Amino acid sequence: MEGSSIKKIAILTSGGDAPGMNPCIRAIVRYGIANNITMIGVDGGYNGLIHGDFHIMDRRDVGGIMQRGGTILQTARSEEFRTEKGQRKAIRQMSSEGIDALVVIGGDGSLQGAMKLHAQGVKVIGVPGTIDNDMYGTDMAIGVDTALNTIVDAIDKIRDTASSHSRAFLIETMGRESGYLAVQAGIVTGAEMVLIPEVETDIDKLVKTMDEAYRHGKSHCIIVCAEGATPHTTELGQIIDGMDLGFTTRISILGHMQRGGKPTAYDRMLSTRLGAKAVEFLLKGESGVMVGLTGKDITLTSLEDVTTKKNVLALEMYEMANILAM
Ligand code: ADP
Ligand code: F6P
Repeated sequence: MEGSSIKKIAILTSGGDAPGMNPCIRAIVRYGIANNITMIGVDGGYNGLIHGDFHIMDRRDVGGIMQRGGTILQTARSEEFRTEKGQRKAIRQMSSEGIDALVVIGGDGSLQGAMKLHAQGVKVIGVPGTIDNDMYGTDMAIGVDTALNTIVDAIDKIRDTASSHSRAFLIETMGRESGYLAVQAGIVTGAEMVLIPEVETDIDKLVKTMDEAYRHGKSHCIIVCAEGATPHTTELGQIIDGMDLGFTTRISILGHMQRGGKPTAYDRMLSTRLGAKAVEFLLKGESGVMVGLTGKDITLTSLEDVTTKKNVLALEMYEMANILAM
């Protein structure tokens, strides 16, 4: 893009990895090179920025990564970067390397870090990457679709064994603070009930649901519990264990498998569009913003809004999940 003062752009991935980070890195690198920008990979998130773990990335460095889960740049949670001292070190490393701008791919914590850099004069743009889908400023974040498909596949399989044994299952999805994955998975797998952090679990209702499912002759009972729901899945299991509900109960915590695996076609496309647009917007002079998907369009939201506003879960979806269940 003509007229931009930006000649060198660095990229990092931070926080929990999400399937689709690699296609995003690929798009950023190739879109930058196509605009005569020197592209720099930062290894290990903000830790890499603090310690100057930089390397030039060319077109071939991002070949063959479209279908790979995880992130080739490694990710990290950096306590040092939370401090002003850590941020100062990172800015110093960027300036001695001649880096003009930074793309941060990560969740809302990572973009709070990006916001801190922006406030200290660094040109920075954020890309939403988290399976939780809890970020303000985007309908979908990178990794959500893949994680959801992984969960659905797992629940379908668990239902097979649950039905064969006439069992109830508490199946835990990720989402410490967000019930998005649990609600979506609950709807599309036809689960009997969904429990989320946003709504306190009504134990009486849960017991009634399980009891009725048994009395109505269902061969299984699937309860999808988000990781952050209270009480926590294991505690809930203990509470239910002491009751005579017809079904015997098992717990299945899906865990980190939800963050891995090949990105779906949807995630590859979303990541690619967000990555290319991030570079385009930087070269047009934007900074302190995040690219996101709004309807069909790639839009910009200030990091100020991204980091201070909440993407509230559509509770009507949660209600729909529980209404359709019986
Ligand atoms: P995610 O980006 O997936 O939400 P975290 O919340 O763990 O993940 O944040 C990732 C990293 O971003 C943290 O380890 C830290 O280095 C940085 N970070 C998070 N919050 C802040 C903050 N308020 N100030 C500076 N850096 C932050
Ligand atoms: O933010 C993504 C996420 O996968 C959450 O859903 C989950 O609570 C958390 O990260 C787990 O983090 P860790 O990788 O530190 O176990």
